[in-house]
Amino acid sequence: MEELKITTNIQVCSYAELVEDDRILVDKAKAMTQNSYVPYSHFHVGAALLLSNGKIVGGSNQENAAFPSGTCAERTTIFYAHSKYPEAKFQKLAIAAWQAGDFTANPTPPCGACRQAILEYEKLAGHPIKILLYGRDKVYVINGIRELLPLQFDEF
Ligand code: THU
Repeated sequence: MEELKITTNIQVCSYAELVEDDRILVDKAKAMTQNSYVPYSHFHVGAALLLSNGKIVGGSNQENAAFPSGTCAERTTIFYAHSKYPEAKFQKLAIAAWQAGDFTANPTPPCGACRQAILEYEKLAGHPIKILLYGRDKVYVINGIRELLPLQFDEF
């Protein structure tokens, strides 16, 4: 039997080390955490997406008394972006989370369902979507969702 080893490449840096354009996108994701509707988890997630038309679209998580009816910040953002600008390609996505009065010290990675949804639009874009996961102590910079979803379901 063979063993398949899969490696993931993630750059780790501080917020201050980001180039200005990346900081702007991260700042938007941080700002979007304040628009969350999270009466159940109290975990505020914000996302900001740069499109090929130069626009930045932001979104936040929106919860519901019937739990599965809520939506993560990432899917709020990417579904809205593609609804509003169906011709635009996704370039770069930033994610931040805020809990109990501060931004999280560690980056918040997207859940599995959001990874699959981001993959869909990465395929449409035809190139990796750069992903910036903000944390107070460190920021993860990832070149494409495939790094976070190494075995993708993308053909049927
Ligand atoms: N959440 C996101 O918005 N994005 C993620 O990738 C992980 C989780 C939200 C969903 C829910 O509103 C709250 O965080 C707690 O799970």
